[in-house]
Amino acid sequence: MKRVITYGTFDLLHYGHINLLKRAKSLGDYLIVGLSTNEFNLIKRKICYFSYEERKKLVESIRYVDLVIPEYSWEQKIEDIKEYKVDIFVMGEDWKGKFDFLQEFCKVVYLPRTPEVSTSKIKKDLSKNADFSQVVCD
Ligand code: CTP
Repeated sequence: MKRVITYGTFDLLHYGHINLLKRAKSLGDYLIVGLSTNEFNLIKRKICYFSYEERKKLVESIRYVDLVIPEYSWEQKIEDIKEYKVDIFVMGEDWKGKFDFLQEFCKVVYLPRTPEVSTSKIKKDLSKNADFSQVVCD
């Protein structure tokens, strides 16, 4: 049984997230997602639209995901890798090189991001284009 772990905020779930999780799962048999808590998001200077519990339910309902655990600090990764007997640590390429120090504990893989979509872009597009927030009536 090969165990894979990845971390992220996964707010306003989009197809870039799904692609990442699908490819992460395909590297092994069991996928764990370390989901950033809202307190940790503040440290990362991110404000979420959905609460941790709402994001957790969404991520847990994805077929590629086997377990969701809270990500509450930058420092917990080594402990998580040991506790969950992780074989592969996966992140999107926006983090390339940042987690190479984990190679001492497991394989580290950076996957290409899906182009042209991100939570920040969705928020920006919705706020600048009023049409998206209007109900269209017959
Ligand atoms: N991700 C991806 N492709 C995208 C967007 C995200 O592969 N287009 C990956 C990230 O690289 C990360 C994971 O999905 O490994 C969770 O990313 P997250 O930061 O939660 O999503 P973003 O959409 O990048 O959010 P933001 O715009 O707030 O940074």
